[in-house]
Amino acid sequence: MSAPARSRIAGTGSHLPARVLTNRDLESMVDTTDEWIVARTGIRERRIAADGETTSDLALAAARNALAAAGLRPGDIDLIVLATSTPDMVFPSSACLLQKKLGIRHGAAFDVQAVCSGFVYALATADQFIRSGMHRRALVVGAEVFSRILDWKDRGTCVLFGDGAGAVVLEASPEPGILSSHLHADGAYADILNTPGHVSGGGVTGDPTLKMDGGAVFKLAVRVLEESAHEALSANGLAVADVDWFVAHQANVRIISHTARKLGIPPEKCVVTVDRHANTSAASIPLALDVAARDGRIKRGDLVLLEGVGGGFTWGSVLIRW
Ligand code: UT7
Repeated sequence: MSAPARSRIAGTGSHLPARVLTNRDLESMVDTTDEWIVARTGIRERRIAADGETTSDLALAAARNALAAAGLRPGDIDLIVLATSTPDMVFPSSACLLQKKLGIRHGAAFDVQAVCSGFVYALATADQFIRSGMHRRALVVGAEVFSRILDWKDRGTCVLFGDGAGAVVLEASPEPGILSSHLHADGAYADILNTPGHVSGGGVTGDPTLKMDGGAVFKLAVRVLEESAHEALSANGLAVADVDWFVAHQANVRIISHTARKLGIPPEKCVVTVDRHANTSAASIPLALDVAARDGRIKRGDLVLLEGVGGGFTWGSVLIRW
């Protein structure tokens, strides 16, 4: 089989759990206010998975929506790459559990762990497999239940995150599609954002809740998102003015707007959904992408810049001709 030249997104999907937790609800849980959360983050509400509802359950609903949008059946998929930092189990991977729920028994399935950059890492990975000719149709999913790793007494972190999933179907195509992806990591920053606990000897060793130096994360995020955007555009001989849609990790509207301002991208080209679901880590980019694809903003031929940044530290971008 000759290697297909490129990969393209054939459909998008997303899913949020039913339970809404508003900023007002949080006022009775920690010392915070709706006004503070909206002003500092742009977040208005987040969704919380029900007891027993897992990452692969949320991923399943998002994957079904993406398959329907692509006009495909689960059996058409020969690769699942699922980005998560909140897997159902230590093993098997949530990708394998999703594969089982979809009734797929062929191809490859594995998880990618790059925290909030997870979707960008997963999409870049699937793109390489399709370009090489090893796989033809991939489900690329970001799915998280971050509500389970939060310290609900820490107002500095618990107001910022939520649960959700987003997915795309990526398929071989003679035309791009994905123009290029650019991934980075620097483990020297592991201390500014982490969840240090782990399973050991039949229990949890260390603290299994999220810890963050918010100010340090904010500054680093804006810097690397700006650098990564320039890297992706210059690799393709394109300029900032060529970008039709900027779909950055949905952590904080101020990170998105600071980055866009530094790059010279006008606010109307920035896709923002963080107000509705807070920071859903690896799920945030495909959630935003699905909203803008379905409401008709992103059209065929548009240049779409995806950018992720998160724990590790990890960051990167994927430039797409839609
Ligand atoms: O995927 C990456 C994940 N992480 C992020 O995206 C987070 C990046 N960082 C941020 O988004 C921001 O740094 C935060 C939203 C976390 C904080 O915003 P900030 O403008 O940097 O506020 P700050 O940390 O400087 O805190 C200002 C004040 C502090 O009080 P004092 O010390 O000035 O009296 C905090 O204790 O706000 C206080 N504060 C709160 N007040 C009400 C912190 N959290 C809250 C809260 N409600 N939830």
